[in-house]
Amino acid sequence: MPKSFSFASTPQIHFGVGKFGLLPQLIENYGNTVLILTGAKSFTSSKHWDTLREDLSQSKIEWYHYVIPNEPSPKQIDHCVDQFINANLKAILAIGGGSVLDAGKAISAMLPLNKPVKNFLEGVGTGEIHPGIKIPFIAVPTTSGTGSETTKNAVITEVGNHGFKKSLRHENFVPNLAVVDPTLTLTSPKNQTANSGMDAFTQLVESYLSTKSNLMTDSLAIKALNQLKDGLPQAVHEGLNIEGRTKMAYAAMISGITLANAGLGTIHGFASSIGGKCNIPHGLICGSLMGIVNRITVRELRKKDTTNIALKKYARLGKMFSQKDEKGPNYQIEFFLDKIDNWTEEFQISIFSKSGLEEIQIPMIIKETGNKNNPYSLNSAELEEALRNRI
Ligand SMILES: [Fe+2]
Repeated sequence: MPKSFSFASTPQIHFGVGKFGLLPQLIENYGNTVLILTGAKSFTSSKHWDTLREDLSQSKIEWYHYVIPNEPSPKQIDHCVDQFINANLKAILAIGGGSVLDAGKAISAMLPLNKPVKNFLEGVGTGEIHPGIKIPFIAVPTTSGTGSETTKNAVITEVGNHGFKKSLRHENFVPNLAVVDPTLTLTSPKNQTANSGMDAFTQLVESYLSTKSNLMTDSLAIKALNQLKDGLPQAVHEGLNIEGRTKMAYAAMISGITLANAGLGTIHGFASSIGGKCNIPHGLICGSLMGIVNRITVRELRKKDTTNIALKKYARLGKMFSQKDEKGPNYQIEFFLDKIDNWTEEFQISIFSKSGLEEIQIPMIIKETGNKNNPYSLNSAELEEALRNRI
């Protein structure tokens, strides 16, 4: 019998090749003034940027442009809000990777308040509750990774010794519209495709194994993982393969829905603690730790909690990847764990020492790492074992 659950709203979704062309008419539904957020240059040097500007001019839509070059900081969100507070914006359109989408989500939520965003961040703010009002927000991903186009939180980052990676979160912050056109991801470079793809992989697996998962999130996660199984290697090795890119765009979009409804696990606990200390891409942290954290989880469940449903789920994942239905659960589990390690190597997901994480930072990272909804809660020694395995 399915257990009880609640399911959050999703954006209105337009998915598939060519959907980018719908943007002018979709924006028009909200009004005739839009703020467009993009990353530093990859999108704005593409032909899609020229097409969009021409189409907006033809539709008599007035637009402003603001660049989000890195993961958004509180200072940058506040700066953008200050700049456009009196622009009478009718919609915010974010076109980019997870950082740009998260920035757009936060800016659309902070424009009606004009207060520092940091006040409202989980864990580091003043505890002030956001009333959930915002300017309509349209999310258009150009990478397949974070699934931010379907989530209700924006991750805001302050890097440094007292750095953090914290969320601005509200049910109403789910984007009004997600326009997911895999054509936009065709030019994403190989290492970015690998890192963001491993993020989507981690998010789907963690939400599937999560103690908060339910029949609906499981159904979505399994079908999306089936797309990712073939789509990820295709997208990494043949960047212009639209079939692989479409599979990955779908997997990433669904990973946002499953993580918003089932939560995540220890790997994303690390992503939060490491991400605030070092400037390492989120997807690389997830991809790098995915193998070892899953191995420790399986090892400890086999020792301490052999009837845990997660072990059955690991076996089901293994069967999907091995396609050898006749083999037993232990074979399938090992196949899945080996698959993660093989992909980590094949996609050249580097270890942390190459990315500036230092020995001295380990105790603080361990202290700040939570297990979230992992099916097994790693203790401090096991967290340290996982981290040291990747240094
Ligand atoms: Fe993630």
